[in-house]
Amino acid sequence: MEYRGYDSSGIAVADGAGISLVKRAGKLANLEERIAEVGEDSMRGTTAIGHTRWATHGRPTDENAHPHLSYDGRAAIVHNGIIENFASLRTELEAAGIELSSETDSEVAAHLLARAYNEGETAGDFRASALAVLGRLEGAFTLLFTHADHPGQIIAARRSTPLIVGVGDGEMFLGSDVAAFIEFTKEAVELNQDNVVVITADGYEVLNFDGSAAQGRPFTIDWDLAAAEKAGYDSFMMKEIHEQPAAVRDTLAGHFHDGRVILDESNISENDLKSINQVFVVACGSAYHSGLLAKYAIEHWVRIPVQIEVASEFRYRDPVLDERTLVLAISQSGETADTLEAVRHARTQGAKVMAVCNTNGSQIPRESDAVLYTHAGPEIGVASTKAFLAQVAANYIVGLALAQAKGTKYPDEIREIWDALEGIPAKIEQLLAVKGQVKEIADDLGAVRTMLFLGRGVGFPVALEGALKLKELAYIHAEGFPAGELKHGPIALIEDDLPVVVVVPSPRGVKLLHSKIVSNIQEIRARGAKTIVIAEEGDDSVEPYANWLIRIPATSSIMQPLLATVPLQFLAADIARACGNDDIDKPRNLAKSVTVE
Ligand code: F6R
Repeated sequence: MEYRGYDSSGIAVADGAGISLVKRAGKLANLEERIAEVGEDSMRGTTAIGHTRWATHGRPTDENAHPHLSYDGRAAIVHNGIIENFASLRTELEAAGIELSSETDSEVAAHLLARAYNEGETAGDFRASALAVLGRLEGAFTLLFTHADHPGQIIAARRSTPLIVGVGDGEMFLGSDVAAFIEFTKEAVELNQDNVVVITADGYEVLNFDGSAAQGRPFTIDWDLAAAEKAGYDSFMMKEIHEQPAAVRDTLAGHFHDGRVILDESNISENDLKSINQVFVVACGSAYHSGLLAKYAIEHWVRIPVQIEVASEFRYRDPVLDERTLVLAISQSGETADTLEAVRHARTQGAKVMAVCNTNGSQIPRESDAVLYTHAGPEIGVASTKAFLAQVAANYIVGLALAQAKGTKYPDEIREIWDALEGIPAKIEQLLAVKGQVKEIADDLGAVRTMLFLGRGVGFPVALEGALKLKELAYIHAEGFPAGELKHGPIALIEDDLPVVVVVPSPRGVKLLHSKIVSNIQEIRARGAKTIVIAEEGDDSVEPYANWLIRIPATSSIMQPLLATVPLQFLAADIARACGNDDIDKPRNLAKSVTVE
Protein backbone atom coordinates (compact mmCIF):
# COMPACT_ATOMS: atom_id res chain seq x y z
CA MET A 1 0.00 0.00 0.00
CA GLU A 2 3.05 2.21 0.06
CA TYR A 3 1.98 4.08 -3.06
CA ARG A 4 -0.91 5.61 -1.14
CA GLY A 5 1.43 7.34 1.31
CA TYR A 6 5.06 6.86 2.18
CA ASP A 7 6.30 9.48 4.58
CA SER A 8 6.09 7.07 7.53
CA SER A 9 4.58 3.72 8.39
CA GLY A 10 3.81 1.39 11.23
CA ILE A 11 2.20 -1.82 12.37
CA ALA A 12 0.47 -2.94 15.56
CA VAL A 13 -0.06 -6.61 16.36
CA ALA A 14 -2.51 -7.81 18.99
CA ASP A 15 -2.44 -11.06 20.87
CA GLY A 16 -4.18 -11.93 24.10
CA ALA A 17 -1.43 -10.36 26.20
CA GLY A 18 -1.15 -6.92 24.64
CA ILE A 19 -0.27 -4.92 21.57
CA SER A 20 3.19 -4.77 19.97
CA LEU A 21 3.80 -1.61 18.03
CA VAL A 22 6.54 -0.55 15.64
CA LYS A 23 6.53 2.65 13.63
CA ARG A 24 9.06 4.66 11.73
CA ALA A 25 9.36 7.87 9.76
CA GLY A 26 10.40 7.52 6.12
CA LYS A 27 9.77 4.80 3.58
CA LEU A 28 8.56 1.33 4.37
CA ALA A 29 12.12 -0.01 4.24
CA ASN A 30 12.81 1.87 7.51
CA LEU A 31 9.94 0.02 9.17
CA GLU A 32 11.19 -3.30 7.86
CA GLU A 33 14.61 -2.53 9.28
CA ARG A 34 13.12 -1.70 12.65
CA ILE A 35 11.06 -4.90 12.71
CA ALA A 36 14.22 -6.87 11.98
CA GLU A 37 15.90 -5.11 14.93
CA VAL A 38 13.12 -5.87 17.42
CA GLY A 39 12.79 -9.38 15.99
CA GLU A 40 9.78 -10.77 14.19
CA ASP A 41 9.03 -13.00 17.14
CA SER A 42 8.01 -9.99 19.16
CA MET A 43 5.49 -9.11 16.45
CA ARG A 44 3.37 -12.25 16.50
CA GLY A 45 -0.36 -12.22 17.08
CA THR A 46 -3.74 -12.95 15.58
CA THR A 47 -4.74 -9.51 14.31
CA ALA A 48 -2.60 -6.71 12.96
CA ILE A 49 -3.23 -3.24 11.64
CA GLY A 50 -0.76 -1.29 9.54
CA HIS A 51 -0.57 2.09 7.90
CA THR A 52 1.45 4.02 5.37
CA ARG A 53 1.04 7.71 5.96
CA TRP A 54 0.67 10.86 3.88
CA ALA A 55 0.87 13.60 6.47
CA THR A 56 -2.01 16.00 7.02
CA HIS A 57 -1.65 17.02 10.69
CA GLY A 58 1.88 16.87 12.02
CA ARG A 59 5.19 16.26 10.32
CA PRO A 60 6.27 12.80 9.22
CA THR A 61 8.01 11.69 12.42
CA ASP A 62 8.09 8.41 14.34
CA GLU A 63 5.60 9.80 16.89
CA ASN A 64 3.15 10.99 14.26
CA ALA A 65 3.26 7.71 12.33
CA HIS A 66 0.31 5.35 12.79
CA PRO A 67 -0.85 3.14 14.48
CA HIS A 68 -1.59 5.21 17.58
CA LEU A 69 -1.84 3.53 20.96
CA SER A 70 -4.32 4.48 23.66
CA TYR A 71 -3.16 5.85 27.02
CA ASP A 72 -3.47 2.40 28.62
CA GLY A 73 -1.64 0.67 25.78
CA ARG A 74 -4.57 -1.72 25.21
CA ALA A 75 -6.12 -0.23 22.07
CA ALA A 76 -4.57 0.82 18.76
CA ILE A 77 -5.98 2.58 15.74
CA VAL A 78 -4.99 3.65 12.24
CA HIS A 79 -6.74 6.46 10.44
CA ASN A 80 -6.95 7.90 6.93
CA GLY A 81 -8.66 11.22 6.31
CA ILE A 82 -9.13 14.17 8.64
CA ILE A 83 -10.97 14.30 11.97
CA GLU A 84 -12.27 17.84 11.79
CA ASN A 85 -13.32 18.18 15.43
CA PHE A 86 -10.05 16.79 16.78
CA ALA A 87 -9.13 20.05 18.54
CA SER A 88 -12.14 19.94 20.89
CA LEU A 89 -11.69 16.20 21.44
CA ARG A 90 -8.05 16.77 22.26
CA THR A 91 -8.94 19.47 24.79
CA GLU A 92 -11.48 17.12 26.39
CA LEU A 93 -8.92 14.31 26.67
CA GLU A 94 -6.26 16.62 28.07
CA ALA A 95 -8.75 17.89 30.65
CA ALA A 96 -9.22 14.26 31.68
CA GLY A 97 -5.47 14.00 32.25
CA ILE A 98 -4.62 12.11 29.08
CA GLU A 99 -1.40 13.25 27.49
CA LEU A 100 -1.24 13.04 23.72
CA SER A 101 2.05 11.96 22.27
CA SER A 102 1.66 13.06 18.65
CA GLU A 103 0.61 16.16 16.72
CA THR A 104 -1.93 14.23 14.68
CA ASP A 105 -5.68 14.61 14.50
CA SER A 106 -5.88 10.80 14.58
CA GLU A 107 -4.52 9.96 18.01
CA VAL A 108 -7.69 11.16 19.77
CA ALA A 109 -9.55 8.16 18.33
CA ALA A 110 -7.27 5.71 20.20
CA HIS A 111 -7.82 7.41 23.55
CA LEU A 112 -11.55 7.83 23.00
CA LEU A 113 -11.77 4.12 22.26
CA ALA A 114 -9.92 3.18 25.44
CA ARG A 115 -12.04 5.54 27.54
CA ALA A 116 -15.26 4.13 26.09
CA TYR A 117 -13.99 0.61 26.74
CA ASN A 118 -12.79 1.32 30.28
CA GLU A 119 -15.62 3.41 31.65
CA GLY A 120 -19.35 4.03 31.51
CA GLU A 121 -22.13 2.36 29.56
CA THR A 122 -19.95 0.73 26.93
CA ALA A 123 -17.33 -0.61 29.38
CA GLY A 124 -15.92 -3.98 28.35
CA ASP A 125 -17.80 -3.98 25.05
CA PHE A 126 -15.38 -3.46 22.14
CA ARG A 127 -18.05 -3.10 19.48
CA ALA A 128 -20.20 -0.68 21.46
CA SER A 129 -17.11 1.33 22.36
CA ALA A 130 -16.04 1.61 18.71
CA LEU A 131 -19.55 2.71 17.69
CA ALA A 132 -19.58 5.29 20.49
CA VAL A 133 -16.30 6.74 19.24
CA LEU A 134 -17.54 6.89 15.65
CA GLY A 135 -20.59 8.80 16.80
CA ARG A 136 -18.32 11.53 18.11
CA LEU A 137 -16.12 12.07 15.07
CA GLU A 138 -16.65 14.67 12.38
CA GLY A 139 -14.89 14.74 9.03
CA ALA A 140 -13.72 12.07 6.64
CA PHE A 141 -12.18 8.90 7.92
CA THR A 142 -11.34 5.31 7.48
CA LEU A 143 -10.54 3.92 10.90
CA LEU A 144 -9.36 0.53 12.08
CA PHE A 145 -9.68 -0.32 15.77
CA THR A 146 -7.95 -3.16 17.55
CA HIS A 147 -7.97 -4.06 21.23
CA ALA A 148 -5.70 -6.35 23.24
CA ASP A 149 -8.70 -7.96 24.97
CA HIS A 150 -10.13 -8.93 21.58
CA PRO A 151 -7.22 -10.32 19.58
CA GLY A 152 -9.57 -12.12 17.21
CA GLN A 153 -11.39 -9.07 15.92
CA ILE A 154 -10.75 -5.85 14.05
CA ILE A 155 -13.44 -3.21 13.83
CA ALA A 156 -13.28 -0.78 10.92
CA ALA A 157 -15.37 2.08 9.65
CA ARG A 158 -15.50 4.40 6.68
CA ARG A 159 -16.95 7.81 6.01
CA SER A 160 -16.01 9.36 2.65
CA THR A 161 -12.67 7.58 2.39
CA PRO A 162 -12.11 4.08 1.01
CA LEU A 163 -12.17 0.71 2.77
CA ILE A 164 -12.50 -2.70 1.15
CA VAL A 165 -12.84 -6.10 2.82
CA GLY A 166 -10.88 -9.08 1.48
CA VAL A 167 -12.46 -12.47 2.16
CA GLY A 168 -9.92 -15.25 2.63
CA ASP A 169 -10.16 -18.81 3.83
CA GLY A 170 -9.70 -18.69 7.59
CA GLU A 171 -8.27 -15.18 7.29
CA MET A 172 -9.82 -11.79 6.54
CA PHE A 173 -8.36 -8.55 5.28
CA LEU A 174 -9.10 -4.86 5.20
CA GLY A 175 -7.46 -2.43 2.82
CA SER A 176 -7.79 1.03 1.33
CA ASP A 177 -7.77 -0.77 -1.97
CA VAL A 178 -7.60 -4.33 -3.18
CA ALA A 179 -3.86 -4.22 -3.90
CA ALA A 180 -3.44 -4.70 -0.12
CA PHE A 181 -4.63 -8.29 -0.24
CA ILE A 182 -4.69 -9.39 -3.88
CA GLU A 183 -1.80 -11.74 -3.04
CA PHE A 184 -4.12 -13.69 -0.72
CA THR A 185 -7.61 -13.46 -2.15
CA LYS A 186 -9.61 -12.16 -5.07
CA GLU A 187 -12.89 -12.15 -3.18
CA ALA A 188 -13.70 -8.73 -1.87
CA VAL A 189 -16.57 -6.77 -0.38
CA GLU A 190 -17.34 -3.15 -1.10
CA LEU A 191 -18.83 -1.14 1.76
CA ASN A 192 -21.21 1.78 1.68
CA GLN A 193 -20.67 5.21 3.16
CA ASP A 194 -20.95 5.22 6.93
CA ASN A 195 -20.53 1.49 7.24
CA VAL A 196 -18.77 -0.36 10.00
CA VAL A 197 -17.32 -3.80 9.49
CA VAL A 198 -16.27 -6.29 12.12
CA ILE A 199 -13.88 -8.96 10.88
CA THR A 200 -12.73 -12.18 12.50
CA ALA A 201 -10.66 -14.98 10.96
CA ASP A 202 -13.82 -16.63 9.69
CA GLY A 203 -16.15 -13.90 8.59
CA TYR A 204 -17.27 -10.34 8.47
CA GLU A 205 -20.33 -8.45 9.60
CA VAL A 206 -21.38 -5.10 8.16
CA LEU A 207 -23.19 -2.55 10.35
CA ASN A 208 -24.38 1.02 10.17
CA PHE A 209 -22.93 3.58 12.55
CA ASP A 210 -25.95 3.08 14.82
CA GLY A 211 -25.14 -0.63 15.08
CA SER A 212 -28.02 -1.86 12.90
CA ALA A 213 -27.27 -4.51 10.28
CA ALA A 214 -26.13 -3.41 6.81
CA GLN A 215 -25.04 -5.13 3.62
CA GLY A 216 -21.77 -4.99 1.71
CA ARG A 217 -21.50 -5.81 -1.99
CA PRO A 218 -19.31 -8.85 -2.67
CA PHE A 219 -17.29 -8.80 -5.89
CA THR A 220 -14.43 -10.71 -7.46
CA ILE A 221 -11.31 -8.75 -8.31
CA ASP A 222 -10.71 -9.04 -12.04
CA TRP A 223 -6.95 -8.54 -12.11
CA ASP A 224 -4.23 -10.59 -10.54
CA LEU A 225 -1.06 -10.06 -8.61
CA ALA A 226 1.01 -9.76 -11.79
CA ALA A 227 -0.82 -6.53 -12.59
CA ALA A 228 0.45 -5.10 -9.33
CA GLU A 229 4.04 -6.25 -9.83
CA LYS A 230 6.85 -4.76 -11.88
CA ALA A 231 7.16 -7.63 -14.39
CA GLY A 232 10.87 -7.09 -15.03
CA TYR A 233 10.76 -3.29 -15.30
CA ASP A 234 12.89 -1.23 -12.95
CA SER A 235 9.87 0.77 -11.81
CA PHE A 236 6.10 0.65 -11.94
CA MET A 237 6.13 3.88 -13.89
CA MET A 238 8.23 2.35 -16.69
CA LYS A 239 5.99 -0.70 -16.75
CA GLU A 240 2.92 1.50 -16.89
CA ILE A 241 4.29 3.65 -19.72
CA HIS A 242 4.78 0.45 -21.69
CA GLU A 243 1.25 -0.69 -20.87
CA GLN A 244 -0.25 2.37 -22.55
CA PRO A 245 -1.14 0.71 -25.86
CA ALA A 246 -3.18 -1.86 -23.92
CA ALA A 247 -4.67 0.78 -21.62
CA VAL A 248 -6.05 2.73 -24.56
CA ARG A 249 -7.09 -0.38 -26.50
CA ASP A 250 -8.93 -1.88 -23.52
CA THR A 251 -10.63 1.42 -22.77
CA LEU A 252 -11.97 1.66 -26.31
CA ALA A 253 -13.02 -2.00 -26.47
CA GLY A 254 -16.74 -2.56 -26.73
CA HIS A 255 -17.67 1.08 -27.16
CA PHE A 256 -18.32 1.06 -30.89
CA HIS A 257 -20.68 -1.42 -32.41
CA ASP A 258 -22.63 -1.41 -35.67
CA GLY A 259 -21.55 2.14 -36.35
CA ARG A 260 -22.74 3.40 -32.98
CA VAL A 261 -20.88 4.66 -29.91
CA ILE A 262 -21.93 2.81 -26.77
CA LEU A 263 -21.47 3.99 -23.20
CA ASP A 264 -21.46 1.57 -20.26
CA GLU A 265 -23.26 1.86 -16.93
CA SER A 266 -25.40 4.86 -17.61
CA ASN A 267 -28.54 6.15 -15.98
CA ILE A 268 -28.50 9.02 -18.45
CA SER A 269 -30.86 8.28 -21.31
CA GLU A 270 -30.21 9.14 -24.96
CA ASN A 271 -32.92 11.81 -24.56
CA ASP A 272 -31.12 13.31 -21.56
CA LEU A 273 -27.92 13.40 -23.57
CA LYS A 274 -29.77 15.07 -26.41
CA SER A 275 -30.96 17.81 -24.07
CA ILE A 276 -27.49 18.61 -22.66
CA ASN A 277 -26.58 22.18 -23.56
CA GLN A 278 -23.37 22.69 -21.59
CA VAL A 279 -20.64 20.55 -20.09
CA PHE A 280 -18.50 21.15 -17.02
CA VAL A 281 -15.38 19.10 -16.52
CA VAL A 282 -14.06 18.66 -12.98
CA ALA A 283 -10.82 16.87 -12.15
CA CYS A 284 -7.40 17.35 -10.56
CA GLY A 285 -3.82 17.16 -11.79
CA SER A 286 -3.26 14.92 -14.77
CA ALA A 287 -6.96 14.06 -14.87
CA TYR A 288 -7.59 17.79 -15.25
CA HIS A 289 -5.21 17.90 -18.20
CA SER A 290 -7.12 15.06 -19.81
CA GLY A 291 -10.26 17.14 -19.19
CA LEU A 292 -8.79 20.07 -21.09
CA LEU A 293 -8.63 17.76 -24.08
CA ALA A 294 -12.27 16.81 -23.53
CA LYS A 295 -13.06 20.49 -23.89
CA TYR A 296 -11.32 20.75 -27.26
CA ALA A 297 -13.00 17.59 -28.51
CA ILE A 298 -16.53 18.22 -27.24
CA GLU A 299 -16.69 21.85 -28.34
CA HIS A 300 -15.43 20.85 -31.77
CA TRP A 301 -17.63 17.81 -32.23
CA VAL A 302 -20.77 18.78 -30.33
CA ARG A 303 -20.78 22.58 -30.59
CA ILE A 304 -21.85 23.15 -26.99
CA PRO A 305 -19.83 25.15 -24.47
CA VAL A 306 -17.52 23.19 -22.20
CA GLN A 307 -16.09 24.72 -19.05
CA ILE A 308 -13.35 23.09 -17.11
CA GLU A 309 -12.37 23.69 -13.56
CA VAL A 310 -9.92 22.16 -11.10
CA ALA A 311 -12.22 20.21 -8.82
CA SER A 312 -11.03 21.89 -5.62
CA GLU A 313 -12.29 25.27 -6.88
CA PHE A 314 -15.54 24.18 -8.48
CA ARG A 315 -18.04 24.21 -5.65
CA TYR A 316 -16.67 27.29 -3.98
CA ARG A 317 -17.63 29.70 -6.69
CA ASP A 318 -21.26 28.80 -7.32
CA PRO A 319 -21.08 27.54 -10.90
CA VAL A 320 -24.30 27.88 -12.90
CA LEU A 321 -25.62 24.35 -13.37
CA ASP A 322 -29.00 22.86 -14.18
CA GLU A 323 -30.55 19.62 -15.38
CA ARG A 324 -29.32 20.30 -18.90
CA THR A 325 -25.72 20.41 -17.69
CA LEU A 326 -23.48 17.39 -17.95
CA VAL A 327 -20.68 17.31 -15.41
CA LEU A 328 -17.81 15.08 -16.44
CA ALA A 329 -15.86 14.00 -13.34
CA ILE A 330 -12.54 12.43 -14.25
CA SER A 331 -10.59 10.43 -11.69
CA GLN A 332 -8.22 7.50 -11.90
CA SER A 333 -8.73 6.47 -8.29
CA GLY A 334 -12.38 7.42 -8.03
CA GLU A 335 -11.62 8.53 -4.48
CA THR A 336 -10.09 12.00 -4.90
CA ALA A 337 -11.88 14.08 -2.25
CA ASP A 338 -11.84 17.31 -4.28
CA THR A 339 -13.47 15.63 -7.26
CA LEU A 340 -15.93 13.72 -5.09
CA GLU A 341 -17.11 16.93 -3.43
CA ALA A 342 -17.48 18.57 -6.86
CA VAL A 343 -19.66 15.62 -7.93
CA ARG A 344 -21.83 15.98 -4.84
CA HIS A 345 -22.22 19.70 -5.43
CA ALA A 346 -23.15 19.18 -9.09
CA ARG A 347 -25.82 16.68 -8.16
CA THR A 348 -27.40 18.96 -5.60
CA GLN A 349 -27.71 21.53 -8.40
CA GLY A 350 -29.60 19.03 -10.57
CA ALA A 351 -26.82 18.46 -13.10
CA LYS A 352 -26.20 15.03 -14.60
CA VAL A 353 -22.85 13.61 -13.59
CA MET A 354 -20.82 11.21 -15.66
CA ALA A 355 -17.67 9.77 -14.10
CA VAL A 356 -14.63 8.68 -16.07
CA CYS A 357 -12.88 6.37 -13.66
CA ASN A 358 -10.27 3.61 -13.52
CA THR A 359 -11.31 1.98 -10.25
CA ASN A 360 -14.28 -0.28 -10.16
CA GLY A 361 -16.69 0.32 -7.32
CA SER A 362 -14.96 3.46 -6.05
CA GLN A 363 -16.90 6.34 -4.58
CA ILE A 364 -17.02 8.81 -7.47
CA PRO A 365 -18.73 6.41 -9.90
CA ARG A 366 -21.04 5.27 -7.14
CA GLU A 367 -22.27 8.79 -6.60
CA SER A 368 -22.52 9.64 -10.31
CA ASP A 369 -25.43 9.14 -12.71
CA ALA A 370 -23.24 7.32 -15.17
CA VAL A 371 -19.73 5.96 -15.43
CA LEU A 372 -17.38 5.21 -18.24
CA TYR A 373 -14.57 3.03 -16.95
CA THR A 374 -11.06 3.38 -18.23
CA HIS A 375 -9.41 -0.03 -18.41
CA ALA A 376 -5.83 0.92 -17.66
CA GLY A 377 -5.47 -1.69 -14.90
CA PRO A 378 -4.02 -0.77 -11.52
CA GLU A 379 -1.71 2.22 -11.67
CA ILE A 380 0.87 1.98 -8.90
CA GLY A 381 3.38 4.62 -10.00
CA VAL A 382 2.29 7.76 -8.23
CA ALA A 383 2.75 9.93 -11.32
CA SER A 384 -0.06 9.11 -13.68
CA THR A 385 0.87 7.77 -17.14
CA LYS A 386 -1.34 5.04 -18.55
CA ALA A 387 -4.38 6.26 -16.65
CA PHE A 388 -3.94 9.68 -18.23
CA LEU A 389 -3.92 8.32 -21.78
CA ALA A 390 -6.87 6.07 -20.98
CA GLN A 391 -8.74 9.11 -19.62
CA VAL A 392 -8.14 11.01 -22.85
CA ALA A 393 -9.49 8.07 -24.83
CA ALA A 394 -12.54 7.80 -22.55
CA ASN A 395 -13.21 11.53 -22.76
CA TYR A 396 -13.24 11.23 -26.52
CA ILE A 397 -15.77 8.39 -26.27
CA VAL A 398 -18.01 10.67 -24.19
CA GLY A 399 -17.58 13.43 -26.79
CA LEU A 400 -18.55 11.10 -29.61
CA ALA A 401 -21.55 9.78 -27.66
CA LEU A 402 -22.74 13.35 -27.20
CA ALA A 403 -22.18 14.17 -30.88
CA GLN A 404 -24.16 11.08 -31.80
CA ALA A 405 -27.04 11.84 -29.42
CA LYS A 406 -27.27 15.47 -30.48
CA GLY A 407 -26.75 14.71 -34.16
CA THR A 408 -23.87 17.15 -34.53
CA LYS A 409 -21.79 14.62 -36.43
CA TYR A 410 -22.94 12.30 -39.19
CA PRO A 411 -22.46 8.60 -38.53
CA ASP A 412 -19.70 8.39 -41.14
CA GLU A 413 -17.86 11.27 -39.48
CA ILE A 414 -18.12 9.51 -36.13
CA ARG A 415 -16.78 6.35 -37.72
CA GLU A 416 -13.85 8.24 -39.18
CA ILE A 417 -12.93 9.71 -35.78
CA TRP A 418 -13.36 6.30 -34.17
CA ASP A 419 -11.04 4.72 -36.72
CA ALA A 420 -8.37 7.31 -35.91
CA LEU A 421 -8.83 6.59 -32.20
CA GLU A 422 -8.60 2.85 -32.73
CA GLY A 423 -5.38 3.32 -34.64
CA ILE A 424 -3.71 4.99 -31.66
CA PRO A 425 -2.59 1.93 -29.61
CA ALA A 426 -0.47 0.59 -32.49
CA LYS A 427 1.10 4.03 -32.89
CA ILE A 428 1.93 4.25 -29.20
CA GLU A 429 3.50 0.81 -29.50
CA GLN A 430 5.72 2.08 -32.27
CA LEU A 431 6.50 5.28 -30.35
CA LEU A 432 7.77 3.43 -27.26
CA ALA A 433 11.03 2.91 -29.16
CA VAL A 434 11.68 6.63 -28.60
CA LYS A 435 12.85 5.74 -25.08
CA GLY A 436 16.53 5.42 -26.10
CA GLN A 437 16.55 8.76 -27.91
CA VAL A 438 14.91 10.52 -24.98
CA LYS A 439 17.50 9.06 -22.60
CA GLU A 440 20.27 10.52 -24.79
CA ILE A 441 18.55 13.91 -24.71
CA ALA A 442 18.31 13.78 -20.92
CA ASP A 443 22.01 12.83 -20.74
CA ASP A 444 22.92 15.74 -23.03
CA LEU A 445 20.87 18.14 -20.94
CA GLY A 446 22.67 17.18 -17.75
CA ALA A 447 21.62 19.01 -14.59
CA VAL A 448 18.57 21.10 -15.39
CA ARG A 449 17.26 23.77 -13.03
CA THR A 450 14.14 24.80 -14.87
CA MET A 451 12.33 23.90 -18.04
CA LEU A 452 9.46 25.26 -20.10
CA PHE A 453 6.90 23.37 -22.14
CA LEU A 454 4.99 25.00 -24.98
CA GLY A 455 2.07 23.89 -27.08
CA ARG A 456 -0.82 25.32 -29.03
CA GLY A 457 -4.32 23.92 -29.43
CA VAL A 458 -4.42 20.37 -28.12
CA GLY A 459 -0.66 20.61 -27.67
CA PHE A 460 -1.20 22.99 -24.75
CA PRO A 461 -2.63 20.37 -22.33
CA VAL A 462 0.25 18.11 -23.41
CA ALA A 463 2.67 20.88 -22.42
CA LEU A 464 0.97 21.17 -19.03
CA GLU A 465 1.13 17.42 -18.51
CA GLY A 466 4.81 17.28 -19.53
CA ALA A 467 5.62 20.07 -17.05
CA LEU A 468 3.65 18.38 -14.25
CA LYS A 469 5.46 15.08 -14.80
CA LEU A 470 8.82 16.84 -14.57
CA LYS A 471 7.89 18.77 -11.42
CA GLU A 472 6.63 15.63 -9.71
CA LEU A 473 9.50 13.36 -10.61
CA ALA A 474 12.58 15.57 -10.86
CA TYR A 475 11.58 18.26 -8.33
CA ILE A 476 12.61 21.00 -10.68
CA HIS A 477 10.67 24.02 -11.71
CA ALA A 478 8.74 23.47 -14.92
CA GLU A 479 5.86 25.32 -16.51
CA GLY A 480 3.59 24.70 -19.45
CA PHE A 481 2.34 27.60 -21.54
CA PRO A 482 0.29 28.12 -24.65
CA ALA A 483 3.11 29.02 -27.04
CA GLY A 484 1.33 32.20 -28.13
CA GLU A 485 1.14 33.47 -24.57
CA LEU A 486 4.89 33.42 -24.14
CA LYS A 487 5.42 36.87 -25.61
CA HIS A 488 2.98 38.32 -23.05
CA GLY A 489 5.38 37.79 -20.19
CA PRO A 490 6.99 34.37 -19.74
CA ILE A 491 9.45 35.00 -22.58
CA ALA A 492 11.37 37.01 -20.00
CA LEU A 493 12.31 33.65 -18.46
CA ILE A 494 14.21 32.59 -21.55
CA GLU A 495 17.95 32.70 -21.14
CA ASP A 496 20.93 31.01 -22.70
CA ASP A 497 20.66 27.23 -22.75
CA LEU A 498 17.24 27.08 -21.07
CA PRO A 499 15.66 23.83 -22.29
CA VAL A 500 12.23 24.39 -23.84
CA VAL A 501 10.00 21.56 -25.07
CA VAL A 502 7.75 22.52 -27.97
CA VAL A 503 4.84 20.33 -29.03
CA VAL A 504 4.25 21.07 -32.70
CA PRO A 505 0.75 20.51 -34.07
CA SER A 506 0.26 18.44 -37.17
CA PRO A 507 0.93 20.46 -40.35
CA ARG A 508 -2.16 18.76 -41.73
CA GLY A 509 -4.34 20.30 -39.01
CA VAL A 510 -5.16 23.98 -38.65
CA LYS A 511 -2.51 25.38 -41.00
CA LEU A 512 -2.13 28.70 -39.23
CA LEU A 513 -1.45 27.01 -35.91
CA HIS A 514 1.49 25.10 -37.31
CA SER A 515 3.16 28.11 -38.88
CA LYS A 516 2.53 30.20 -35.77
CA ILE A 517 4.30 27.70 -33.55
CA VAL A 518 7.23 27.54 -35.95
CA SER A 519 7.54 31.33 -35.45
CA ASN A 520 7.31 30.85 -31.67
CA ILE A 521 10.18 28.36 -31.78
CA GLN A 522 12.32 30.87 -33.66
CA GLU A 523 11.49 33.57 -31.12
CA ILE A 524 12.78 31.49 -28.22
CA ARG A 525 15.81 30.21 -30.12
CA ALA A 526 16.74 33.80 -30.90
CA ARG A 527 16.89 34.36 -27.15
CA GLY A 528 19.19 31.46 -26.42
CA ALA A 529 16.80 28.62 -25.56
CA LYS A 530 17.64 25.04 -26.45
CA THR A 531 14.63 23.44 -28.07
CA ILE A 532 13.38 19.90 -27.75
CA VAL A 533 10.84 19.73 -30.52
CA ILE A 534 8.14 17.08 -30.74
CA ALA A 535 6.80 16.91 -34.27
CA GLU A 536 5.10 14.36 -36.42
CA GLU A 537 6.95 12.21 -38.90
CA GLY A 538 7.41 13.98 -42.20
CA ASP A 539 7.14 17.49 -40.76
CA ASP A 540 10.49 18.83 -41.94
CA SER A 541 9.70 22.50 -41.46
CA VAL A 542 10.81 22.45 -37.80
CA GLU A 543 14.12 20.69 -38.32
CA PRO A 544 16.29 23.82 -38.58
CA TYR A 545 15.00 25.12 -35.25
CA ALA A 546 15.31 22.00 -33.14
CA ASN A 547 18.33 21.25 -30.96
CA TRP A 548 16.71 17.86 -30.51
CA LEU A 549 13.86 16.58 -32.63
CA ILE A 550 11.58 13.81 -31.39
CA ARG A 551 9.40 12.25 -34.06
CA ILE A 552 5.93 10.93 -33.33
CA PRO A 553 3.71 9.00 -35.73
CA ALA A 554 1.32 11.07 -37.83
CA THR A 555 -2.32 11.11 -36.76
CA SER A 556 -5.25 13.53 -36.83
CA SER A 557 -4.75 16.72 -34.79
CA ILE A 558 -7.14 15.83 -31.99
CA MET A 559 -5.45 12.44 -31.48
CA GLN A 560 -1.95 13.85 -31.31
CA PRO A 561 -1.91 14.30 -27.48
CA LEU A 562 -2.25 10.53 -27.11
CA LEU A 563 1.15 10.27 -28.77
CA ALA A 564 2.96 13.51 -27.91
CA THR A 565 2.62 12.83 -24.16
CA VAL A 566 4.62 9.60 -24.28
CA PRO A 567 8.12 11.06 -24.92
CA LEU A 568 7.47 13.61 -22.18
CA GLN A 569 6.81 10.82 -19.69
CA PHE A 570 10.17 9.23 -20.54
CA LEU A 571 11.86 12.62 -20.43
CA ALA A 572 10.59 13.39 -16.93
CA ALA A 573 11.72 9.98 -15.67
CA ASP A 574 15.19 10.31 -17.24
CA ILE A 575 15.75 13.85 -15.98
CA ALA A 576 14.55 12.76 -12.52
CA ARG A 577 17.17 10.04 -12.45
CA ALA A 578 19.83 12.43 -13.77
CA CYS A 579 18.90 14.71 -10.85
CA GLY A 580 19.40 11.85 -8.42
CA ASN A 581 15.79 10.85 -7.79
CA ASP A 582 15.87 7.16 -8.51
CA ASP A 583 12.57 6.28 -6.87
CA ILE A 584 10.37 7.66 -9.62
CA ASP A 585 7.44 5.57 -8.40
CA LYS A 586 7.22 7.49 -5.15
CA PRO A 587 8.06 11.16 -5.57
CA ARG A 588 8.43 13.09 -2.35
CA ASN A 589 5.41 14.66 -0.63
CA LEU A 590 2.89 12.92 -2.89
CA ALA A 591 0.46 10.04 -2.57
CA LYS A 592 -1.46 8.15 -5.18
CA SER A 593 -4.91 8.75 -3.91
CA VAL A 594 -5.69 12.06 -2.24
CA THR A 595 -8.68 11.46 -0.01
CA VAL A 596 -8.52 14.76 1.85
CA GLU A 597 -9.65 18.15 0.52
C1 F6R B 1 -0.15 13.41 -11.58
C2 F6R B 1 -1.15 12.72 -10.80
C3 F6R B 1 -2.16 13.53 -10.08
C4 F6R B 1 -3.56 12.92 -10.27
C5 F6R B 1 -4.59 13.69 -9.45
C6 F6R B 1 -5.99 13.15 -9.62
O1 F6R B 1 0.79 12.55 -12.12
O2 F6R B 1 -1.15 11.52 -10.71
O3 F6R B 1 -2.13 14.85 -10.52
O4 F6R B 1 -3.88 12.94 -11.62
O5 F6R B 1 -4.24 13.65 -8.09
O6 F6R B 1 -6.08 11.83 -9.20
P1 F6R B 1 -7.32 10.95 -9.61
O7 F6R B 1 -7.28 10.79 -11.10
O8 F6R B 1 -7.15 9.66 -8.88
O9 F6R B 1 -8.55 11.70 -9.19
